[in-house]
Amino acid sequence: MHGIVKTFPGVRALDGVDLDVRAGEVHCLLGQNGAGKSTLIKVLAGAHQPDAGTISWEGEPVTLGDPQAAMSRGIATIYQELDLVPGLTVADNVFLGREHARFGLARMASANRATADLLARLGHPEIRPTAELGSLSAASQQMVSMARALSQDARLIVMDEPSAVLDNEEVERLFGVIRELTADGVAVVYISHRLEEIRQVGDRITVLKDGRTVATGLPARETPTRQVITLMTGRDIEYVFPERSSAPRDGEPLLEVEDLGLRGRFADVSFTVRPGEIVGLAGLVGSGRSEILETICGARKPTAGTVRVAGRRLRPGDVAAAVAAGLGLAPEERKSQALLLGDSVARNISISSLRRFARAGFLSGRSEKQAAQEQVDALDVRPADVSREVRTLSGGNQQKVVLARWLLRDCRVLLLDEPTRGVDVGARSEIYALIRGLADRGVAVVVVSSEIPEVLGLADRVLVIADGSVVTEQPASALDEHRVLDLVMEKAAARSRAAGEGDVA
Ligand SMILES: Nc1ncnc2c1ncn2[C@@H]1O[C@H](COP(=O)(O)OP(=O)(O)OP(=O)(O)O)[C@@H](O)[C@H]1O
Ligand SMILES: [Mg+2]
Repeated sequence: MHGIVKTFPGVRALDGVDLDVRAGEVHCLLGQNGAGKSTLIKVLAGAHQPDAGTISWEGEPVTLGDPQAAMSRGIATIYQELDLVPGLTVADNVFLGREHARFGLARMASANRATADLLARLGHPEIRPTAELGSLSAASQQMVSMARALSQDARLIVMDEPSAVLDNEEVERLFGVIRELTADGVAVVYISHRLEEIRQVGDRITVLKDGRTVATGLPARETPTRQVITLMTGRDIEYVFPERSSAPRDGEPLLEVEDLGLRGRFADVSFTVRPGEIVGLAGLVGSGRSEILETICGARKPTAGTVRVAGRRLRPGDVAAAVAAGLGLAPEERKSQALLLGDSVARNISISSLRRFARAGFLSGRSEKQAAQEQVDALDVRPADVSREVRTLSGGNQQKVVLARWLLRDCRVLLLDEPTRGVDVGARSEIYALIRGLADRGVAVVVVSSEIPEVLGLADRVLVIADGSVVTEQPASALDEHRVLDLVMEKAAARSRAAGEGDVA
């Protein structure tokens, strides 16, 4: 791709971008939220037409007039916002718009078989080809999208933040598939905000900033992370975690979780959070952390234990009661979560705090806008225009909008599940500062993150969760990443030993 330009009303998303991808390589495309990554790959997929610039494929200049044209040349794309049809089956989605999908029992059976094979290859034999897509988790839907790309015998597969909805094990498996593909000469364009992934799987790097290529063809393993970050952001950034406030936290606990359990998922979870405190839950994906948060806020009904907010016991399994008591949960899958895409940024941010802006029965548009603008500035949402439709924001900026919604709400206890997922390195420190700011105003905060350094840097106290139970609770300063991983592994080892003894008995 050479000199690609793409403008939207009021935005020059791409301003002369160059990208060359070789057969058999993993080419990483990096850049801050809104840099133009998704727009570039939509041009490559034939979904957007460039205003200027040229695309060559296997040495020949080509015009990719529509997605079909790109697909027929062997370019497959896994979009950031998945483009699957929830009402269709898994197999229908994999073969959407192609021969297999046409009617006929024999075809259907062969489509189902082919789909099952592809999913097995991706390490997900449990996803049934006949299941309705909408009934699957975001991670499973991602896998279906991947199966679809594989089914096309693509020469180039573009993956736009595939790891944002996958857990560590699934990411490992994905990397395995990527390595198989590239060994067969398939090229992969890989987009991610997790820089350590780039080092694991990437060959070369291209960095976009404000719609321009600022570096291209850098070696992925040898280029220092610091340099990549400086290229992306134009400044030197390290993860800066806000200072923990030194004020003694001896108030009564705001949140008290006692012996909480959900059969088959987690058991005996007890901890308290005082006003002004941030408690982190560290552990691997699948360890039960998200379920613990969901159970605390009433989205799941516990099979044991109690939750108290400011000393008052919450009715189990009652979200409305939890919200009334001042509890808020910003869940992990923010994308699939109720963004009103056609509405303005301001409305999306203030939607659950509307009561506050409705003075004497009518909505105060001005203060609604003003409060939203403050959040937008604080979180560095780009463009910083609250009247813009959310639909036109980049993926990461949409994430920030949902997060802003929760930060603006007057919660006494705020549960945050993966608050920085999909958010670029530049904006992370700002999010950390906002969370600490809430705590300093007396909110009790619980944070879950699969990035262990994030939990350790942000929280005052950390609970290490493995396999549905609390392994240890310690001040964050007493732990480091290795120690946390060791604790998690020890627990896994103890469990498999216990299982072994069980067999003997
Ligand atoms: N359909 C559209 N209409 C108007 N503006 C758009 C549209 N699509 C993208 N943009 C704008 O183009 C710019 C680039 O967006 P893009 O989605 O390519 O960013 P990105 O690099 O993929 O970011 P992220 O890391 O957040 O996914 C942003 O300013 C975005 O608001
Ligand atoms: Mg994007």
